[in-house]
Amino acid sequence: MKTPHSDAMVFFGATGDLAYKKIFPSLQAMVRRGSLAVPVIGVAKAGWTLDQFKARARDSVEQHGGLDPEAFARLNGLLRYVDGDYEDAATFQAIRKELGASERPAHYLAIPPVLFGTVVEQLGRAGCVPPGARVIVEKPFGRDLQSARRLNQILLRTCDERRIFRIDHYLGKRPVHNLLFFRFANAFTEPFWNRQHVESVQITMAEDFGVQGRGAFYDGVGAVRDVVQNHLFQVLANLAMEPPVRTDSESIRDEKVKVLKATLPLAKRNLVRGQFRGYLQEPGVRPGSTVETFAALKLEVDSWRWRGVPFYIRAGKSLPVTCTEIVVRLRRPPTMYHGYGLKANYVRMRISPDVTIAMGFNTMKPLTESAGEIDEICSVAHPPAAEVDAYERVLTDALVGDATLFAREDYVEEAWRIVDPALKAETSVYQYEPGTWGPAEVGHGVTPDGGWQNPSVSGRAS
Ligand code: BG6
Repeated sequence: MKTPHSDAMVFFGATGDLAYKKIFPSLQAMVRRGSLAVPVIGVAKAGWTLDQFKARARDSVEQHGGLDPEAFARLNGLLRYVDGDYEDAATFQAIRKELGASERPAHYLAIPPVLFGTVVEQLGRAGCVPPGARVIVEKPFGRDLQSARRLNQILLRTCDERRIFRIDHYLGKRPVHNLLFFRFANAFTEPFWNRQHVESVQITMAEDFGVQGRGAFYDGVGAVRDVVQNHLFQVLANLAMEPPVRTDSESIRDEKVKVLKATLPLAKRNLVRGQFRGYLQEPGVRPGSTVETFAALKLEVDSWRWRGVPFYIRAGKSLPVTCTEIVVRLRRPPTMYHGYGLKANYVRMRISPDVTIAMGFNTMKPLTESAGEIDEICSVAHPPAAEVDAYERVLTDALVGDATLFAREDYVEEAWRIVDPALKAETSVYQYEPGTWGPAEVGHGVTPDGGWQNPSVSGRAS
């Protein structure tokens, strides 16, 4: 449904790390593409002037993606700045003044969730949330079901669900969306995309770096809350959902919620947590912390299509490569070729760093009577520099009010319902060496039949 474009953007946390690394470069790209031409009011408590704020924006784009002099000049002209405490009503009066006659401001809360309540209430009190306003919030959205519900209640006091946009930047990645395209734009996938033919599904999100100076944040979160409950569940939903009956945002989001509703709570025995050796020495990490930097889990989607097919998810820092990849492994045929060491067929879908779709199958090795395994690449693409960045895409969509790429309230709550029991249970955290595929304990119960297929960044699975 077409909704009017926001007529101003207010972003809280304007002097923070996310703004510096992601938001300013996205804003510059949006100006270049013509999707941003409204005032952008940065808000923070830093004791800064507008000029200092503009200098920070310039520095940010120079460091992250490069300065586009023409686009930046236009962005510079749109920037405003309000310095002040989020507890102080005067800060919000100043925002009100900057907003002028705006009827549809988009308030982007790039701040820790503990501040959401204070900020939205203050915005409401200062008259900054007219009926056309939108609120965009960053992850993490809560740290369990209860806190997510509480956050929702706070937001809903000031504006209704249709106007709340919960960012999960993974949804802004074209290859994540491409999973749906691959499934629903082709005829050949549907006949085998089900429990009759699929043996297991595995999703790996590997990063070959540690916490990169974000120790204090990461130590309050861990791998499951940082990337599994949100980013990788979105991947899971795209892999497992039914074709939506229409293409509007709610029809698509309804199908995703159904996948999560069908997913059984994660049992303690189906979660293995790991921590890379050296994590405890990272700045900001608490002494003796048992937060996981690696998680492997097994989920059951108890639906007509998927009952009995295990979905494995594995995510970690300091692993051998940086790569996100899915392997959908098929059941073996009732073949007469016993003793040929046949491997299971699979579909391999890589989300990053390149975007690959490949099929794995058995053929007979030339000049022999033995089987060879082929990983046939059907399509591979390296995202071009001109590709829309995930942040640019989600911010653009939020400003036009298209909710497709945002997590709805019921989705977020279902996601927490699934991981909560295992996160709340006492589970051990096992050490692993940086540069390895996580702790050996993953082998006990959280490994697909036929093993994990470890991605290698040369483009072929190993
Ligand atoms: C963020 C997590 O949400 O996603 C990070 O907080 C993680 O820990 C990042 O590294 C991965 O996203 P991307 O787009 O860099 O693959």
